[in-house]
Amino acid sequence: MQIKIKKASHISEAEVTPKHLFMNRRHFIQASAAAGALGSILPPGKAAAGMKLPGITQTAYGNGLEQTKYEDVTSYNNFYEFGTGKSDPANNAQNFQTKPWQVSIEGAVAKPGVVDFDDLIKPHKLEERIYRFRCVEAWSMVVPWVGIPLADVIKRFEPTSKAKYVAFETLVDPERMPGQKRAILNWPYVEGLRMDEAMNPLALLAVGLYGEELPGQNGAPIRLVVPWKYGFKSIKSIVAIRFVEKMPPTTWNMSASSEYGFYSNVNPEVSHPRWSQAKERVIGQGYFSAKKETLKFNGYAEEVASLYSGMDLAKYY
Ligand code: MTE
Repeated sequence: MQIKIKKASHISEAEVTPKHLFMNRRHFIQASAAAGALGSILPPGKAAAGMKLPGITQTAYGNGLEQTKYEDVTSYNNFYEFGTGKSDPANNAQNFQTKPWQVSIEGAVAKPGVVDFDDLIKPHKLEERIYRFRCVEAWSMVVPWVGIPLADVIKRFEPTSKAKYVAFETLVDPERMPGQKRAILNWPYVEGLRMDEAMNPLALLAVGLYGEELPGQNGAPIRLVVPWKYGFKSIKSIVAIRFVEKMPPTTWNMSASSEYGFYSNVNPEVSHPRWSQAKERVIGQGYFSAKKETLKFNGYAEEVASLYSGMDLAKYY
């Protein structure tokens, strides 16, 4: 089944995007048009503007945060399925086909099944939420995501009492994801959350950013965003959501268990074995600009600290 998408010409930018944002985007679109007029399509590494998403509800999340430019959010990426360099995903995911797309809902749920992307999203209202995003590599961004609360999706499929964790899986298709031709990581990329983490209102299933469909390099057509955890928990291009009783394996933990734990909460007090997590480089501010202090739980302590009360966060990193 298809979602009816309003023609782009029928949606005003103001309908989907706050003013300061669309002024920003206008500037980008004008710059892109100018580049086109000069005979060049966008240079490699630059994402083409995606389809606008209709009917986005604005929220108060992140109001007032300075947003990272669209160009930076979509050209400085980690997505090993498309290569390990920061510009590889934008270069190699340009023609990534995501239609049709299905997500398999599995395990301890009353309503398991394979669901078309459109049917997964359609019962929910799309929200824009501006979140801080902190990578374990000690850089950060602020991204206006568009998505639906993970908790709302989970509730629809009615997890049983055996569902203690939720596991997520990325597509495996080396023809469409050329990075998978090399065994850099164990494919598929997998991630997981404890059930109460997954049900926290901050956890978002994102389908867009800056009011538009997600570009391939950012995890089209659907990815997780868990803003109080390091970025690698935010698994991209999800094809399976599985409800399980035991803590599921996670890609980076399998790859280097002394460096990456299951929880991976942003924590300036617990260093990575090879570098400090006390500060972060803000993408878009230049390599030599002053670093910013990293906040515990990436600034979302009020919303999520209670999930971990009594836990030794140096042990459960
Ligand atoms: N998901 C998949 N499937 N493959 C990946 O390599 N990289 C992770 C995460 N999700 C990754 C992934 C890492 S390390 C980060 S920091 C974020 O995606 C980056 O998201 P962004 O490129 O949208 O900023």
